[in-house]
Amino acid sequence: MKDLVRMKTSLSEEIEALLNGQVKMEAKSSSIYLAMAAYCDRLGFENSSEFFFQQAEEERQHMLKIFRYIADAGGTPVSPDVANVPQEFGSFRGVYENALEQEIEVTNAINKIVSAAYKGGDHTTANFLQWFISEQQEEEFTARKRLELFDVIGEEGIGAYMIDQKIPEIGPPTSEDAEA
Ligand code: FEO
Repeated sequence: MKDLVRMKTSLSEEIEALLNGQVKMEAKSSSIYLAMAAYCDRLGFENSSEFFFQQAEEERQHMLKIFRYIADAGGTPVSPDVANVPQEFGSFRGVYENALEQEIEVTNAINKIVSAAYKGGDHTTANFLQWFISEQQEEEFTARKRLELFDVIGEEGIGAYMIDQKIPEIGPPTSEDAEA
């Protein structure tokens, strides 16, 4: 007998649900980064504000990438509802702490989907998500480096201003440079 579900889509119900959950998570990340951009702008940290505007755009691209993958695999991508986006982050440093925590959560979520994909024999999805694994390695690395600036430079005097000046200089891990 033909497997009619398999003929319609290559995704199992479980993987489709997990991927849609990730679509939502990336959309929420985008919204949170947008709120961070506005928050930093209000504090007068222009480089940080610009950085978070860019991050918001990147997360939207991540969301679209997964959304399209689900559609291309014959599944049903769900346009995400995003609620409860925080608008306040307590302090300049608080923004960067939140940003790192957010990236760690995304990494954990991606790892969970990859594990589920391998467990279900869905190597196509596992392969698709490899890009996100590398992306998260970079995002976590750079988020940690940005947060470290607060310890290395300190916020006293013109320290906070100097931290904001250094934000655009943080690049990807040197192991990536070696591959380039
Ligand atoms: Fe797309 Fe940084 O999570």
